[in-house]
Parts: sequence; C-alpha cells; structure tokens
Amino acid sequence: MKSVLYLPPSLLQSEHPLLKAVSETYEVRPLASRFSYEAGALYLEAAWQLSFLAALPHRPVERITLFFHRCEEALHYLQHNRDPHMQLVAEITAYGEALAQGELIAFPTETVYGLGGDATNVEAVGKIFAVKERPLHDPLIVHVANLEQLAGVTAPLDARAMKLIEHFWPGPLTLVVPKDPALDPLVTAGGSTVAIRMPANPLALSLIAASGKPIAAPSANRFGYTSPTTAAHVIEQLGERIDGTLDGGSCTVGIDSTVLSLATEVPTILRPGKITQAELEPIIGAVTHSTEEQREAVESPGMLASHYAPTTPFFLVDDVGAYADDSEVGILLYGEVATVFSGPTRSISTRGNLSEAASRLYWAMRELDSLGLKKIVCTLLPEEGIGAAINNRLRKAAARR
Ligand code: TXA
Ligand code: MG
Repeated sequence: MKSVLYLPPSLLQSEHPLLKAVSETYEVRPLASRFSYEAGALYLEAAWQLSFLAALPHRPVERITLFFHRCEEALHYLQHNRDPHMQLVAEITAYGEALAQGELIAFPTETVYGLGGDATNVEAVGKIFAVKERPLHDPLIVHVANLEQLAGVTAPLDARAMKLIEHFWPGPLTLVVPKDPALDPLVTAGGSTVAIRMPANPLALSLIAASGKPIAAPSANRFGYTSPTTAAHVIEQLGERIDGTLDGGSCTVGIDSTVLSLATEVPTILRPGKITQAELEPIIGAVTHSTEEQREAVESPGMLASHYAPTTPFFLVDDVGAYADDSEVGILLYGEVATVFSGPTRSISTRGNLSEAASRLYWAMRELDSLGLKKIVCTLLPEEGIGAAINNRLRKAAARR
C-alpha cells in the first residue's frame, strides 16, 4: 500500500516534472489549510517543510519536520528517500551501527551537517582529519545525545557549565571545558580542553544515541570551505571519502554553533553563533569575545586563516549596486533591493530577517560559487543577534586571497 502524501494544491495543479515520479511512489492528495497528523502520512507545506510522525531509535514518537530551500529539493528528497518516516528509522539504525564500528557518517544538525566518527576510536578520529584534509592542530567537537555520554570525555563539569547545559542544550552552543585524561589527545589536538555539544536536531540525537558513542564531528566540508547545510553539499565534497550521509533536509539555524570557552578566567566566545553574549550573560555573568580577529590582523597575511570561503573570490563591498552592470559578478542580497542586476543574484532574506538569512547563507554562497563567476560580492548585515555571527563568516570568507 502506498503512503499518503499531502501536497499544497497549487503544486498539485502545477505541471512540475518531478511530480510524476512522486505520484508513482505515493498516494498524493491536496493538503487542507488545517490538518491533524495521521500516522504514516506525509505533509509537504508551502515554503517547503515536510512533516510526518516517526518513531526514531531511542526517541518517542514525534513529529519530524525537514526543511528545504526549494520545491525541487523537497520533491527530489521524496523521490530518493521512499517513505522517510520508515526509511529514517532503518538508516539511523544502520548508520548508528556503522559509527560504532569506526566508520564515518555525515549527519544533519540544526546548525550545519557534521562528519561523525566515534570519539573514543582513535582510528576513526584520524580518518576524520584525513578526509577533511584538516590540520591536526585544529581540535574537534564531541557530540553527545545525553549527559552520560560525557563520561570519559570531560573532567567533572563545574557549576557554570551545568547552568549553561541546563539552559541551552540540546542546542547550538559548544562548551570548551577541561578534558578527561582518557580521551585521546588527537580529538583535542593535544590540548587539555575538549569542546562538547548536544545538538538539537532529533535525527542527530537519535543517531548518536543509536551509536552508543560520543561522536566527534566537525562540519562536513573540506577544510577551509563553506560549511554544508544540505546532504547534497556533503556528498559533493566528501561523498566518495566517507561511509554514508544521513539526509535530513536543510539545516534550520544554518551557521556553525557558538563556541564558548569556560577554560579562560572570563568565559570567552571563540566563535560567534546563534547564541549570543547577551543570552549567555544572564545565565553565568560576564562573557567576553575572543580577540581572534585582532590577532589575525597582526599576523602575516599569508598565514591568515580564511574559513567558510567559496572558491570564487568573495568580496565585502559598501554598495552592491556598483556591480549591477557586470554579468560575471554574483550578488548575495539581503533585504528588499530595487536594483536590477545583470549578473546572477541570490537573496538570503528578502524580508530582511536575520534568522532566515543565517539559514540560507551557506546555501546561497554555494549556489553562486557553482556558476563559474569572476567574483561574488555582498554587504555586511546589521550586527545584531545572529547578524554578528553572519558577518563573522562573511569576513572570513572574504579573507581568502
Ligand atoms: O555547529 C557546529 O559546531 C558544527 C556541527 C557539526 O556541530 N561543528 C563544527 O565543527 O562547526 P568544526 O570542527 O567545523 O568547528 C569547531 C570549532 C573549530 O574552530 C575548533 O578550532 C574549535 O571549534 N574547537 C574545538 N575544540 C576546541 C578546544 N578544545 N578549544 C578551543 N577551540 C576548539
Ligand atoms: Mg568547520
């Protein structure tokens, strides 16, 4: 029997070429404006959210929602992942077992896709560095699905760490804390601290729990490049080098987690993310920002650590309008822009919403990067909330020269 798939009536009426393939697999019905979830049915809403009830390993039955940037991505997912409410269960079980065996599996988190390997298996950890071409001096974040999995990873946590965990986990906050001597130094690049995080994405939590291991996972891109926010991004750069990718649609936050060090006298934000200083301070008191930016500025320009960078030269400019007549320049847009550009454009949020901009940033950068352009230009966004983290990534992307 075919599963029922509810689609927006406007999509059903359209002659979308992918609809035919999807209709062969599913019993397709029009989506009502109000509906309640039935077990076994799938719901694709406009703005491309696919929801269904699923009983994932180590999770209660819950509503899973996968997000897609485009209608094509959603239909493509449905075509290639038959009955995701059942297939995800099978994949998570198999991939959990693979992780436990030392294989590398990429998986979605709410921030970006991670390249996972068993943090307690030094060979698996070594492979992570190798496939990413990541220098061994750059430590990894250990991901857990519950606090018990921190045993053997961290030294006993202090009161500040516990408060932050209670408040922000699962979620996009990574904590740098003293490590347990049992944890292999390869994970921490020889340092005495370890970065830990419990992601909020239910697929990630289910997979980590299914593996039964704490999972070391950097962003699933080649070193220095833009982080991946879809499974297709991962497969493009690492597909051949790893043992599998769990497809969970596009990441909702869209930029890498806030990294907060609790190893400094005053807790220090080493990498800005969705969770800001203003949200952290009410919980643990004064928090400062690292002076990484200033340090980089005085180092030799050749040593400049550029990150999050597309291959096409990327420039921050005051006015993208100045490039309107050059068809070989790609424009990354934010907010309403009246200018007509002769080159390709991608908007990260036409309504000027910073959360939406974060969720589309890396996707838009990759889209423009794939077009073989002379350069990509963009202006900085408002430096508020997650805007500061977006600007941090834009500056790093522009540093590759
Ligand atoms: O959102 C995220 O954090 C994603 C997802 C997959 O969870 N992961 C991620 O990992 O962005 P990665 O490896 O791409 O970035 C981790 C950052 C690096 O800048 C690394 O230098 C820093 O965290 N880091 C890791 N361990 C550290 C430590 N012990 N002390 C200071 N910085 C550390
Ligand atoms: Mg990374």
